Amino acid sequence: MEERLLRDINEETNWALETAQRIYEKEKVVAVRNRSKIPYTAKEGVWDDHTTDINWWTNGFWAGQLWLLYNAFGDESFKKIACDIEDKLDAVLMDYMGMDHDSGFKWLLTSVADFKMTGSARSKNRALLAASDLAGRLNPAGGFIRAWDDDGSGERAGWAIIDCMMNLPLLYWAGEVTNDPRFAQIAIIHADTASRVFIREDGSVAHIAVFDPASGEFKGTLGGQGMAEGSSWTRGQSWALYGFSLSYRHSGKKEYLETAIKVADHIISQINDDYIIPVDFCQDASCEYEDSTAAAIIACGLLELEQYAAGNKAAIYHETAICLLHTLADKRCNWSPEDDELLENCSAAYHDKEHNFPIIYGDYYFTEAVLMLCNKDLFLW
Ligand code: GLY
Repeated sequence: MEERLLRDINEETNWALETAQRIYEKEKVVAVRNRSKIPYTAKEGVWDDHTTDINWWTNGFWAGQLWLLYNAFGDESFKKIACDIEDKLDAVLMDYMGMDHDSGFKWLLTSVADFKMTGSARSKNRALLAASDLAGRLNPAGGFIRAWDDDGSGERAGWAIIDCMMNLPLLYWAGEVTNDPRFAQIAIIHADTASRVFIREDGSVAHIAVFDPASGEFKGTLGGQGMAEGSSWTRGQSWALYGFSLSYRHSGKKEYLETAIKVADHIISQINDDYIIPVDFCQDASCEYEDSTAAAIIACGLLELEQYAAGNKAAIYHETAICLLHTLADKRCNWSPEDDELLENCSAAYHDKEHNFPIIYGDYYFTEAVLMLCNKDLFLW
């Protein structure tokens, strides 16, 4: 039995090491021809460039992926491109109305990564400014971090979204490097509220929560990027799973572990035998909208959560993550160095016109999960 277990572990590590090497070989080529871009999606195998849309929430992911690969393989050209993107993001820090709650996605994967790898004081300063802005988005009456801005009308002043759970690690990081408990206190206020308002009895998760921004009264939830109010948008489920697991890691609050387990069990109960993840677990069986990004984020979340789960749950979480990653590698990865994207069949939102296309954060989380499996991960959250 123990011998079999050891063989499985060795096989799995070998698979992860080989897959990490494949990612590295591909990205070496992709990075050279995209060295000045900040990609979001690819059309016909060519990354687009969001440099002129510098506030866009996904602008840290390519740099983050390059930092992960630099840490694992030591390729200096990756570091150079990541640092150039970090410089470009300074324009966002200088644009108050262009800031939103996605500072974690933008600066954990650029400045915090740089600081962790090089000790750069400039990077630390940038990330602390971003963390302070994020902390300043707390609505004390409702106990939530405001998600998006609006044109100044206040229309979205009372909106929080589940995705924000993944931005809280920027606050935990800021608290650690400054020895100032305020940052974690704010993260915990938000996470407590999120646990109360987003998570349903069956472990499924809403996307948007609406509060009265003046009184803080909770008004209800919206379907957001999912199919409908009350449905189970898969990327939202994945943000909750990984986000609450990370909040447990940073705060030690048992309630977050319980929430992450509840969400994980809901997700696992919805996954089909083919391990292809739809855009919404409630969508019709005939609907072919997929989201490979959700598959990759769920894998990361399960690999994080398995470290804290008791009994046979840890094994179930691990096994599910492995099945998701193998499915992505075999059926949804484009391994050709001629094409820029790695993951295909991703979707931004159920009601968008376009579905099943490449999205950069799918590549990021797939890379992160594979590197986690072979103990080569640079932990950025
Ligand atoms: N709103 C962030 C996401 O699409 O997951």
